[in-house]
Amino acid sequence: MTDQFQKAMSLADLPEGSMRDCVLEGREIVVCRTKDGGLYALDNICTHAFARMCEGRLRGTRLICPLHGAAFDLRDGRALGAPASKPLGCHEVRISGDDIEVRVAAAAPIPAPQL
Ligand code: FES
Repeated sequence: MTDQFQKAMSLADLPEGSMRDCVLEGREIVVCRTKDGGLYALDNICTHAFARMCEGRLRGTRLICPLHGAAFDLRDGRALGAPASKPLGCHEVRISGDDIEVRVAAAAPIPAPQL
């Protein structure tokens, strides 16, 4: 783990209202850009079972899992309803020039699927 922000992608590659995955430090991360320009970075693997959140849907500040439909709050990663109960790890994100940069949170545990 580093304590540094790293380039995740170009800002131009993430239009408002979309999300995109990347791998930083061996960790799958989804970067979400809301329609009002909010920018969030969370772990890309659902905490319920194995699904990539980037294949789900973005609704306002809710990220919805493609497999069983659990929703997570982009702002703090908390699970908003069953079947997921554990939060997604959140990471600091910022815009630097033309790039989106993420600092991978050292404290965020790598989510283990709940079986
Ligand atoms: S794998 Fe995401 S809700 Fe089940």
